[in-house]
Amino acid sequence: MSYKSVYAAAKADPDGFWLEQAKAIDWVTPPTKALNDSKAPLYEWFTDAEVNACYNAVDRHVENGRADQAAIIYDSPITGSKDTITFAQLKDKVAGLAGAMRDKGITKGDRVIIYMPMVPEALVAMLACARIGAVHSVVFGGFAANELAVRIDDATPKAILAASCGVEPGRVVEYKPLLDNAIELAKHKIDFTIILQRDEQRCDMIAGRDFDWKDVQDGVAPADCVTVSGDHPAYILYTSGTTGQPKGVVRPTAGHLVALNWTMKNIYDVDPGDVFWAASDVGWVVGHSYICYGPLIHGNTTVVFEGKPIGTPDAGTFWRVISEHNVRSFFTAPTAFRAIKRDDPTGALIKNYDISCLRALYLAGERADPDTIEWAQNVMGVPVYDHWWQTEIGYPAVCNPAGIEPMPVKIGSPSVALPGFDIQILTDEGEPMAAGELGAIAIKLPLPPGTLPTLWNAEERFLKSYLNTFPGYYETGDAGMIDEDGYLYIMARTDDVINVAGHRLSTGAMEEVLAGHPDVAECAVIGVTDQLKGQLPMGFVCLNNGCETPNEQIIADCIKRVRDTIGPVAAFKLVAVVDRLPKTRSGKILRATMVKIADSEPFKMPATIDDPAILDEIKAALQPMGYAAD
Ligand code: COA
Ligand code: AMP
Repeated sequence: MSYKSVYAAAKADPDGFWLEQAKAIDWVTPPTKALNDSKAPLYEWFTDAEVNACYNAVDRHVENGRADQAAIIYDSPITGSKDTITFAQLKDKVAGLAGAMRDKGITKGDRVIIYMPMVPEALVAMLACARIGAVHSVVFGGFAANELAVRIDDATPKAILAASCGVEPGRVVEYKPLLDNAIELAKHKIDFTIILQRDEQRCDMIAGRDFDWKDVQDGVAPADCVTVSGDHPAYILYTSGTTGQPKGVVRPTAGHLVALNWTMKNIYDVDPGDVFWAASDVGWVVGHSYICYGPLIHGNTTVVFEGKPIGTPDAGTFWRVISEHNVRSFFTAPTAFRAIKRDDPTGALIKNYDISCLRALYLAGERADPDTIEWAQNVMGVPVYDHWWQTEIGYPAVCNPAGIEPMPVKIGSPSVALPGFDIQILTDEGEPMAAGELGAIAIKLPLPPGTLPTLWNAEERFLKSYLNTFPGYYETGDAGMIDEDGYLYIMARTDDVINVAGHRLSTGAMEEVLAGHPDVAECAVIGVTDQLKGQLPMGFVCLNNGCETPNEQIIADCIKRVRDTIGPVAAFKLVAVVDRLPKTRSGKILRATMVKIADSEPFKMPATIDDPAILDEIKAALQPMGYAAD
């Protein structure tokens, strides 16, 4: 089968195509219809099916001869631990925890927040929710208490599953004080928590509210899989939008099962039994789709890696994990490779390991720069595939369909649209543009199965953020172009979202934090180019008249505020105090122009600028920080 024929089949008969792919899933009641367009432009898939996601990710493999196959390999260079969990063992762990949650009153449709580091129990928690039809919402450990509180108030969970701590290079991150603080800050009150006590830092428990992970399962019957309908939310995952209020992306159960299972072979080219590794975090969509659900649904072994690409203990860690665990397909963010390349420019450390088991490297989450791709290809000797997707979409929309037919790689492009995705470049007025022209990247509706049907409790915001700008299309928020061979090129975001070390962050959210400083009259946050992390946030603050606090103190306060409110993951360390911000005559801050100045790129003086002289002041403020070279 060629890529073109598979793409054409999905386009000509989406129902037939996806019903055929649905045969790989074990249903309680199989779907009779794939697309449900009764509420267009809100589309859903497999709404008349009944299924359980945990059964498909775990139980069916135990029943079908994979009981003793490793389901999860845990490799934690940061704590010096390793473990292997078979599918049979995983089933026991998941059913035990699910039983304890059910015993404490969690039932189908209840929300459960998961706040955990990269330990196998994070996957056990996700699968235990899926087992009893609870809707999980995983919150990344690098977010601060306030971000957790915002998610508690939006998702209104009955319970939170957490660990006592995470481990970052050089420090143990105590999760429990963050959790206690978030519970205190949130208006919505949870019923209970279940806490995994880790040896690296045990925590105090609040009697009657906090239950120990192991004790809570004592004497409780394991839970069976609960049947849910195809459109039942599998999870809510919050992602950054333009404001401080994150968007709760809803993932529908059936579409997610069918689509993820399909991608494991057709994109990542792994067969059941192969080892698949995504070096990301369960707090991100990559962790949901390709550390937890995708590989397990497909009968692959997944690697849970708790460490960093460098420093745990060195830039050879990835090669060791690949060779030691026989990884066939590997997925990470370009930043990780930029870090390895910086520490070990000649790739000397790879010579200590046999990575002949590896077939390909997949990069996503941010722009993959050609230097990094070429370096990885040369050092590893395998194809490197950039691919493009978003939290909202849930799996790659544009990629090299290597499992169908490897397409020629064009460095700088994540390649071609996956079957089911009709990607178009549009003008501001929503008119399709010709090949090679730069515009807004949009996807013709309906989106294929597994993509977001809506935002949690925010349908109006869903319509406004994604569907209203270009009627008939989903607006991606990215700009780019498609060449005459159908290859997509991603150029920039069209909104205030930036990408820091593959982590999606909102500059608008950071501005809200800075604006809360009592001495700050006005502020702007932009994303500037960084050699390692791709982008870094940079803040500009104007102070109230008569402010007597020294600038150094203001800068330190601003950095601390963002770290304490959003979290260390924001990597917010660059702040300049300025007298004024460049604006249009109507008062709009010229952030895009500020980015160009910081990155020392040529720019056109905006015709509507109020006072061009301010740009020189901005440049002067940037230069001491090492930006805006002459
Ligand atoms: N819990 C608590 N804190 C966390 C955290 C977590 N789960 N993850 C990150 N942090 C903290 C870090 O400790 C760091 O804090 P610091 O300011 O005190 O040093 C801060 O958040 C920024 O972390 P990070 O983005 O990891 O940057 P770094 O400078 O520590 O490391 C890299 C740089 C390139 C090694 C790292 O960014 C990396 O591995 N990137 C790959 C990203 C990735 O896989 N993204 C997933 C998307 S596919
Ligand atoms: P997230 O939702 O965190 O996965 O972030 C999605 C955003 O990351 C996209 O909208 C893009 O802006 C960016 N992104 C993801 N993959 C790529 C890629 N391969 N190349 C360029 N940008 C990417």
